[in-house]
Amino acid sequence: MAVSRTFRIFRYDPVKDPAPYWSLFTVNVEQGDSVLTGLMKIREELDGSLAFRASCRSGICGSDGMVINGRSRLACKTQVDDMGHGEVVIEPLRNLPYLKDLVVDQTPFWDKFESVMPWLHESTTEPVPETERRMTLAEDAFDDLSKASDCIFCQICYAECPVNGLDRAFIGPQALIKAFRFEADPRDVGTNERVPILDQPDGVWRCRTTFNCTVSCPKGIPITKDIQSLKREMVGTYFHARQEV
Ligand code: F3S
Ligand code: FES
Repeated sequence: MAVSRTFRIFRYDPVKDPAPYWSLFTVNVEQGDSVLTGLMKIREELDGSLAFRASCRSGICGSDGMVINGRSRLACKTQVDDMGHGEVVIEPLRNLPYLKDLVVDQTPFWDKFESVMPWLHESTTEPVPETERRMTLAEDAFDDLSKASDCIFCQICYAECPVNGLDRAFIGPQALIKAFRFEADPRDVGTNERVPILDQPDGVWRCRTTFNCTVSCPKGIPITKDIQSLKREMVGTYFHARQEV
């Protein structure tokens, strides 16, 4: 049975609005409808100018991260029924500049992601195998790597990290787990190139282990734990370099 629900949505178009404001919309939603379905109804039936990102509608593309009732979540994986009986309050992700309404400028996020060189650095001295490059890893270590590979780039960890909010230079949790994913891969030889980026005040050491990233990750990636692994690796790299002097 459809019920009428009110959505309070952050609006701002820097081209024409002097300041952000709230819009209230009331639509009918069915039991089990997601917040994304509600937003689509609003755009189709009430206000075609409402801007938000979405694509897969099934928690895979990571494009519809937004703040819903105070917490960053994927709109397609959040049911309206789970948001209590009052208004559903929707705002853009934090820690990123606004572009329009619920759409943020992702440039700082992608710049930091790219800075850790998130690709497999292959050995240039070992012979190229005829088939794929296989890896050998203990089961636990492989599980950690595999989990870090589940990241869907939704930017929720970046938006929920309080350090990202205070220090725009902090590389942020998502770039760090991407670095972890390749540092944990025994086929990767990129450590020497990544260490100068990770082992600096705005790299791994700026993380204050607040766990917001881990708690909010829609894929359940243990981000804080992975960052601590990188810190241990940085310390190990330091002692290794001292021994060689
Ligand atoms: Fe931020 Fe996550 Fe560290 S929320 S402070 S990157 S544990
Ligand atoms: Fe793709 Fe929600 S629309 S994750």
